Amino acid sequence: MVRSTAWLLGALLGLICVLPLVLMTPRTAQCTSLKTLENKLIGRRRNMKHNLPINYTIRVHYEEVFKLSNISRLRARVEDLEDGDLQDVWLLVNQEVLKRILRVLPVRHPSYKYTTDLEDLFRKVQQVFPPQTDEREPPERIEEIYKRVKEIDSKGWRFVTPKSLLDNCYRTMHCLFKDCFSSEDREQDYCGLPHWRKGRKRLQ
Ligand SMILES: *[C@@H]1O[C@H](CO)[C@@H](O)[C@H](O)[C@H]1NC(C)=O
Ligand SMILES: *[C@@H]1O[C@H](CO)[C@@H](O)[C@H](O)[C@H]1NC(C)=O
Repeated sequence: MVRSTAWLLGALLGLICVLPLVLMTPRTAQCTSLKTLENKLIGRRRNMKHNLPINYTIRVHYEEVFKLSNISRLRARVEDLEDGDLQDVWLLVNQEVLKRILRVLPVRHPSYKYTTDLEDLFRKVQQVFPPQTDEREPPERIEEIYKRVKEIDSKGWRFVTPKSLLDNCYRTMHCLFKDCFSSEDREQDYCGLPHWRKGRKRLQ
């Protein structure tokens, strides 16, 4: 009797340990990695604004400014565009942005570790999102963005604050992966600017 109870207990414990792994479907893993990133991005005001000189800007490619308006424009204009294409662009652009921010931060700068942590989290996100290009050719306009972002001698430069780059990252993440960020009570329009305007203080 004692033996079988012990066995049952053991089996039950085993099940409890294995269950989370079984439930960790690819989508769950994707949302988990994005939520971790989201949490980290909450620190962007302190790290990318308060720790830097007032109005400090860095030079980025035009294409590295990837905002909600870019998403709506691409969705309206590009045929055969899939969400996966935009998610790939988001991943690439923001990894480039982080490299640019790191390039101006000395290793001992208070925001250095924060930025490398973000890079790590991006790598983790990338691991659970196989690129679209494995399955199909992305539309030409998307290929063009990839090419331009990688160009070393770009002619189109803009000066922007690191904080605004990470704000773009944060908002477009909610728009492109909205299934991971939906709240129970009502549908949120993360892709629309009004959503971000009305709750400005709370959401930034
Ligand atoms: C920073 O930018 C704001 C808005 O453009 C401007 O009003 C302010 O004077 C600038 N501050 C400094 C120190 O340049
Ligand atoms: C986003 O739009 C701006 C113009 O507002 C443009 O310069 C930039 O290249 C676009 N970014 C991407 C990734 O298409």
